[in-house]
Amino acid sequence: MKILDGQLVSRATKDELKIKVAQLVTEGKKIPHLAAVLVGNNGASETYVGAKVKSCEEIGFKSTLVRLEENISENKLLSVIEDLNNDPDIDGILVQLPLPKHISDEKVINAIHPSKDVDGFHPINVGKMVQGLDTFIPATPYGIMLMLEYYKINTKGLHAVVIGRSNIVGRPMSILLSRSGQPGNCTVTLTHSHTRNLKELCESADIIVAALGIPEFVKGDMVKDGAIVIDVGITRVPDPSKKSGFALKGDVDFAEVSPKCSFITPVPGGVGPMTIAALMKNTFKACVDKN
Ligand code: GUN
Repeated sequence: MKILDGQLVSRATKDELKIKVAQLVTEGKKIPHLAAVLVGNNGASETYVGAKVKSCEEIGFKSTLVRLEENISENKLLSVIEDLNNDPDIDGILVQLPLPKHISDEKVINAIHPSKDVDGFHPINVGKMVQGLDTFIPATPYGIMLMLEYYKINTKGLHAVVIGRSNIVGRPMSILLSRSGQPGNCTVTLTHSHTRNLKELCESADIIVAALGIPEFVKGDMVKDGAIVIDVGITRVPDPSKKSGFALKGDVDFAEVSPKCSFITPVPGGVGPMTIAALMKNTFKACVDKN
């Protein structure tokens, strides 16, 4: 069993970007600038956005964190996005999800200009991704693809079972793995809460991507020997022994599953850091494509 080390690959990806930014500086070109919008005080979102802003600093990007009150109106949020769309110094915009219930995710995502949509959530960018055109790929599945590429894992012809059909992870992951290319060329089964024979499907999988948000859902008896297991889950579970009061749990029972795998991502330190590295790549792309 080999660990797919997200910290290591993320570091390597960000180091590459750091060199490219230094080059932009030398050439007197524009430096990438990411605007992150955080609505309310969700603890996990605070952590994720904080990590995104910190990565911008490490690489040499500019970043702007826009903090908004939980009770901000939808219209006000849309007008903040419009201002960011119209600001020529801002290259990428991300609005951290989930949003408070009174705000429509769909309206917010649609309001971000597709050329600044570094999350790759806008329907225009999703459509381009489906057709294999050049665009922003949603950061979590993009990060997973970068990790498979880094470790030179040949995915051609493999059966991939993706658990979870969210717009952020499962659905784009299923599309990317089925696209032609390396990594890619998989036969993909996209499963969800209504899938009847999930255990049997997982047992036949060469790759399992677990992105359903239920801690330790994937057990040892669901995984065949030699499978590649990618754990996207990162749920905060109460743990009084930790200073923070919680432990982070993946969607995979690591103790049971890891002995059977050829490759597995740990939680934390697997997919999480890769999500951020992929977002940084998208932000760089937004800047250089425009300038
Ligand atoms: N919430 C969970 N994952 C993501 C992500 O990739 N982007 C944004 N904007 N919000 C998220």
